[in-house]
Amino acid sequence: MTTTSLPSEPAATGERPADPLRIVVISGSVRNQRMGRAISEWAAFRAAAGGAAELDLIDCADCALPDDADLRPGGGSGSPVAERIDAADAFVLVTPEYNHSYPAALKRLIDWHYREWMFKPATVVSYGVQGGLLATEHLRGVLAELHMVTTRRVVGLRQPWNDLGPAGYTAPDGVDAAFDAAVGELTWWGSLLRTARRERPFAR
Ligand SMILES: Cc1cc2nc3c(=O)[nH]c(=O)nc-3n(C[C@H](O)[C@H](O)[C@H](O)COP(=O)(O)O)c2cc1C
Repeated sequence: MTTTSLPSEPAATGERPADPLRIVVISGSVRNQRMGRAISEWAAFRAAAGGAAELDLIDCADCALPDDADLRPGGGSGSPVAERIDAADAFVLVTPEYNHSYPAALKRLIDWHYREWMFKPATVVSYGVQGGLLATEHLRGVLAELHMVTTRRVVGLRQPWNDLGPAGYTAPDGVDAAFDAAVGELTWWGSLLRTARRERPFAR
């Protein structure tokens, strides 16, 4: 399994558990000039703070998925990131709002996998002129179809281009706390559902 290197190791505030939850941050924008990568790195760094979870970052821009002509109900084979999605216990989806929804690249990543997503939770960090929450609301319905739980708490970044600098994205007042609250909910679901997947798998 490949693990994308994160900007720097956050200071651990507690003991790393023997069986840490694995959180995968997914960066949904693939534009050359995208700011999604900087926001995703902030999210990964922040979610790793405390040292209780293992983090991975999948950037849709780095995922050369097969041609959609080979897509089938239930996904397809040949995805370079299927194992990394499968290994996840929980997801942070980082998405811009494009025309009141989320980018096609993120939908392709979702559609190319199926059982890898199932019975796992996700939270969303959206961004746009007004926070990009319409992208999040579109994701909720799609994720429900995959037997996923989306946290009630999500984060919407308003005009994050004003908070980008040479060091990346710097969260304005209140955003770190809002993200921590969403991740708190995510890890609660992640831990519960991991136990459920192991001990009481759903009869499909
Ligand atoms: C195709 C396209 C559609 C967009 N539609 C919206 C929109 O509906 N709402 C919004 O707030 N911003 C919209 N924007 C502006 C994006 O929020 C802004 O460009 C943002 O930087 C995109 O994220 P990215 O840089 O990670 O790709 C759109 C941008 C693009 C490229």
